Amino acid sequence: MDRREFLKGTAWMGAAAVAAGCATEGLGLGGCGSMALYADKPFRKLRVGIVGLGRGQAGVRGFNVIPGCEITAICDLNAVRIDCTLKAIETAKRPKPTVYTGGPEEWKRLCDDPNVDLVYNATPWQLHVPIALYAMHAGKHVATEVPSAFTVDECWELVETSEKLRRHCMQLENCCYGETEMLALNLCRSGILGELVHGEGAYIHDLRTHNYGNWDDATPGRDKSLDSGAYWNYWRLRHNVAHKGNQYTTHGLGPICWYMNINRGDAFDYLVSLESNQANFEAFAKAHYQSDDQKNGWKTKMRVEMGDMNTMLIKTKLGRSIMVQHDVSSPRPYSRINTITGTKGILTDYPYRVGWEEKPGAGVHQFFDEKRAAAVRQEYRHPLWKQAGELAKKLGGHGGMDFLMVLRLAYCLQNGLPLDQNVYDLASWCCLCELSEKSVRNRSATMDVPDFTRGEWKNVPPLGDLSVDMGKMGFSA
Ligand SMILES: NC(=O)c1ccc[n+]([C@@H]2O[C@H](COP(=O)([O-])OP(=O)(O)OC[C@H]3O[C@@H](n4cnc5c(N)ncnc54)[C@H](O)[C@@H]3O)[C@@H](O)[C@H]2O)c1
Repeated sequence: MDRREFLKGTAWMGAAAVAAGCATEGLGLGGCGSMALYADKPFRKLRVGIVGLGRGQAGVRGFNVIPGCEITAICDLNAVRIDCTLKAIETAKRPKPTVYTGGPEEWKRLCDDPNVDLVYNATPWQLHVPIALYAMHAGKHVATEVPSAFTVDECWELVETSEKLRRHCMQLENCCYGETEMLALNLCRSGILGELVHGEGAYIHDLRTHNYGNWDDATPGRDKSLDSGAYWNYWRLRHNVAHKGNQYTTHGLGPICWYMNINRGDAFDYLVSLESNQANFEAFAKAHYQSDDQKNGWKTKMRVEMGDMNTMLIKTKLGRSIMVQHDVSSPRPYSRINTITGTKGILTDYPYRVGWEEKPGAGVHQFFDEKRAAAVRQEYRHPLWKQAGELAKKLGGHGGMDFLMVLRLAYCLQNGLPLDQNVYDLASWCCLCELSEKSVRNRSATMDVPDFTRGEWKNVPPLGDLSVDMGKMGFSA
């Protein structure tokens, strides 16, 4: 009997212990029960430590302007990024943070820093789980960039640690806060699309240059944007060459999970995954580098495991279907697809189109025209976008969604509220990396998705309206 089978067989012990008043500590079954609606004391002053100062700039931009938040510590190996971040904090007239740099484990000192309440982790993938676990053990809440984990076991470890230590372990899925995604969420909540049936999401982004680009060459010329045009130490290429399956599941999937109330009324049941051959990565390397080039020749000889296009199909417990695609190597325009259909209508994206039945049974044979689609956008604008969308757009960051994610995270922590994305969301969205790979490697065999909530998905209510009170937060009108 493996560890998961054992836990399944003893699930009743956890439930009984929770019913008896959270006494599961000794059983190793997850401390005080579900974290789904967990809220800590309000952090009126929220002290944030940011590790990884490339993508970590989303946190820097956000926490620099949110009243009551202070970036008290930063950590990176790269001096240029440290300097740029210190300048950004100074320009925002915020206190200078403690800097942790100079070694690959300096992030441990940031996690141990008593002036940090929240560790905001935007490092390369292989550091996501170690930093999250270490931060929680150091008593900190943690928010980690996507994907926050890659295997089923890693996901269970994060769930069990979060439950046992009563620390938030959130995944920073910014696309859930996109303008069109939140519009779709509002339409789903209002019932206009009817009973939801099917969703489609994707991460289709030509990242060949980023994958193969040399960090040392790229960084000096592009330090202003803090996006070097390459990944540190080829972290993404290293992962992609070794794996099949969808290794970046969450951008397209996360919003659909919100529409469908996954882990809050519905849950994933099983999946199948099918993958194309690999052609684009390897062709790109051969076209761009010479095999006898001392510095880059190895790129032309490297076999890449990952097929160009992966398509995963997920069945939910309530019987709905979701399609998720991943392609970071084909020459084609960016898309997250973002499609949701119900018994009355549809919203789809890239480009945005919407339509619903004018009369029951009339069908939807074409989308609304541009004028009506624009009116729908206006009328059903999500409350969070009404409240903070203008500021979000001004600050930038993927059209504003980065800021809204950071704003909601700060608002919930400052007001002692549960977070929008809990550790079960993280686990169920991220375990698909391993499960989709296993399916691909087994002729698209069906893989069961673990229920990290241990049945609690039936009892947890859907997410609320996700609004913020900008006045209460201290923003001037
Ligand atoms: N949500 C989004 O829209 C989005 C967008 C881009 C990247 N990401 C995610 O953000 C993460 C980082 O991506 P990126 O584009 O910034 O990558 P990057 O390679 O540009 O930056 C990684 C940074 O981590 C630093 N680093 C590496 N090892 C370290 C260590 N041991 N200690 C401290 N710092 C260390 C590097 O010096 C570098 O500055 C990834 O998980 C990626 O998937 C998310």
